[in-house]
Amino acid sequence: MKRVEISELYRNAAQYADTEICVAGWVRSIRSSNRFGFLSLSDGSCFDPLQVVLEAESLAEYDAVVAQNVGAAVSVTGKLTLTPQAQQPFELHAVAVKSEGESAPDYPLQKKRHTLEFLRTMPHLRARTNTFQAVFRVRSECAFAIHDFFHSRGFVYVHTPIITTNDCEGAGEMFRVTTFDPANVPLTDEGAVDYNKDFFGRAAMLTVSGQLAAECFAMAFSNVYTFGPAFRAENSNTARHAAEFWMVEPEIAFADLADDMELAEDMLRHILKHLFAACQRELEFLDARICPGLIARLEAVAGAPFARVSYTEAIGLLQKSGERFAYPAEWGGDLATEHERYLTEKVFERPVFVTDWPQEIKAFYMRQNDDGRTVAAMDLLVPGVGELVGGSQREERTDRLRQAYERCGLNPESYGFYTDLRRFGGTKHAGFGLGFERLVMYLTGIANIRDVEAFPRTAGSAEF
Ligand code: 4AD
Ligand code: MG
Repeated sequence: MKRVEISELYRNAAQYADTEICVAGWVRSIRSSNRFGFLSLSDGSCFDPLQVVLEAESLAEYDAVVAQNVGAAVSVTGKLTLTPQAQQPFELHAVAVKSEGESAPDYPLQKKRHTLEFLRTMPHLRARTNTFQAVFRVRSECAFAIHDFFHSRGFVYVHTPIITTNDCEGAGEMFRVTTFDPANVPLTDEGAVDYNKDFFGRAAMLTVSGQLAAECFAMAFSNVYTFGPAFRAENSNTARHAAEFWMVEPEIAFADLADDMELAEDMLRHILKHLFAACQRELEFLDARICPGLIARLEAVAGAPFARVSYTEAIGLLQKSGERFAYPAEWGGDLATEHERYLTEKVFERPVFVTDWPQEIKAFYMRQNDDGRTVAAMDLLVPGVGELVGGSQREERTDRLRQAYERCGLNPESYGFYTDLRRFGGTKHAGFGLGFERLVMYLTGIANIRDVEAFPRTAGSAEF
């Protein structure tokens, strides 16, 4: 008999009522007496498990089945019975149960609640818990919604390289890619590392952002995006920094900073709409168990426009706030997490774009404003997370760009391609990067980035 997925039963229960079907999954829990037993079976096709009823009298293998350990894989043939009065809408009365793969008695995930810290010690098994079923379904649906959003607007999806030879953010936090034997690195006559002898004939790194490559394609397709992994060797042990994370980076031609913010806002609204339709059970669970008030908060976000404030005004608000920050806010400095959260959680109580940042603390490619000291940049701050998006209008004026290379100590020869984009039909354009894990944190209420990545890579930790 062909296996039916549990999600199909939840969609079309009436169609299967009182017929014999076959399901397969992993045992979440077992309860039994000498006459009756109950298995809670999950196959991961949907959030809710299936209740399987076992009767000693009619099931020849009863004793063997109830002796199974939690975590075992089984297939069950049985009759589906609708149970409109009960907590679950139906149950499966087993006629035959086949063991597909036994589980050892030391299976660590029992029905009780485990802490997220405990689950972090077993990244290979934690996907079998309710929390990770909810989080990773949301993550998957979010990724789909992002592609769906850009596709519906005719954007071209560009796969930008993961191995790169330039530092987009100029922050020097890159992982090196090399085939050198660390015990025997070739040196030049001057004693420097001889990258000419390395695999690519030059120094290469893992990318921190696909932006510069995306810009090349935006100058041909107008509207493009890249969505892929980024790597940062930031040695910051925080709840929202990972060494490997995913980033969504659209790049739009003939567009300015206002268009850029509108795009980010539209994208987030599209994702929320999809999530409410596709992940209702997951959101209910997360609201009940992980983050009380989550659904109401997300509904409010979907319904109201995001706030906008300039960096200069934001500094003024922080200084006037009367709050005791660990670091006082001062014009010219970056916003600390405590400042970000104060602005979005206390002042605006919703997502807020902070625009027009001091040139000194932002990347070389951002467009200089007429005041000569700020750039057309925006950060989107959201409650609970802080910075979710960073973007800007790009400097399209060749002379200003050359000044920026000099100011930031960059070698203009390494950025020849980037200057060329301006020399050959360079136009006004803008883009942003959205940290995908931070988005999933925001949408699930999960507080630590380690719990929204399947196998997190952070400073000092890379399991498997
Ligand atoms: O603000 P960032 O550094 O911007 C860029 O990389 C631009 N090149 C993007 C662009 O304009 N195309 O990074 C963008 C976002 C941040 O707002 C944050 O959400 C996320 O990427 N991010 C991280 N997420 C997890 N771990 C880290 N270490 C992150 N660093 C940045
Ligand atoms: Mg940033």
